[in-house]
Amino acid sequence: MVHEKDSFVSVMLANIKGGDKQDERLETITKLYSDYNAAIKSVGTMLEIVSDEFQATHDHNPIHHIERRLKSPLSILEKLSRKGLEPSISNITANITDIAGLRIVCPYIKDIHVIADFFLTNKEIELIKERDYITKPKDNGYRSLHLVVRAPIAFASSFGHVPVEIQIRTIAMDMWASLEHEIRYKRGVEVPQETTERLKNCAEVLAEIDLGMQSIYHEMLDK
Ligand code: GTP
Ligand code: MG
Repeated sequence: MVHEKDSFVSVMLANIKGGDKQDERLETITKLYSDYNAAIKSVGTMLEIVSDEFQATHDHNPIHHIERRLKSPLSILEKLSRKGLEPSISNITANITDIAGLRIVCPYIKDIHVIADFFLTNKEIELIKERDYITKPKDNGYRSLHLVVRAPIAFASSFGHVPVEIQIRTIAMDMWASLEHEIRYKRGVEVPQETTERLKNCAEVLAEIDLGMQSIYHEMLDK
C-alpha cells in the first residue's frame, strides 16, 4: 500500500513548477504535506476535547461526528487550473485554503452555533472567511456554515499557522449534501433542471425537519 504522504508528494513533485533543484522542491512539498496534515490533527484534537467535555459534563453533545480530509493533489492542481493559476507552491499556499478540511456534523441547528462560537472566540484561532449558507442557503438548497481559520501548529522546532476549512452542518444538511454531491458528480451527466428543483425541494423539507426535531428536543427538555 502506498502511504498517503508518499503519493501526495510524488504527484505534487511531478506537477509543481519551480526553478529550484528537485531535492529542494521535495523538501518544500513534504513540508506542505506535514503542515496541512498537522493542521487537521491539531483542530481535530481540539474538537475531540470539546466533544469529550460535553459528553462528560452536559446532557447533550453538540458534536455528532467529525470527518477530516486532506485535499488530494489532483484536486489541488485542478483548482489551481480552474483559477487560471500556474501549479506552484506559492500559488497553492496563497490561494487554496481548503487543503486541510474538517466537517463537524451536529444533531441540531443550535449546535452549529455552539461549535462556530468555539472557533470564533478562541484567541489562538484566527478567522479568515465565514460563509453562512444556513441564514442564506445556496440557490440549489445547500446549507452549511463554512469557516476558514488559521490554526496554530507546533512542531519540534517551529511554530506556524495553517488555513483549515471547517464545514459545520446538521445531520439532515449532511445527508442532503452527501447525496446531492453523489448525484451531481458521480454519474458524470448533467443534472436536468427538474431534478435540480426536486433536490432543492428535498433541502427545504429537511430544513423543516431540522426545525421540527429541534423544537421537539426543547419541548422535552422543559418537561
Ligand atoms: P470550492 O472551489 O468547491 O472549494 O468552493 P468555494 O471555494 O467557492 O467555497 P464554497 O464555500 O462555495 O464551497 C466549499 C465546499 O463546500 C465545497 O468544496 C463542498 O464541500 C461544499 N459545498 C459547497 N456548495 C455545495 C453544494 O452545492 N453541494 C454540496 N454537496 N456541497 C457543497
Ligand atoms: Mg473545496
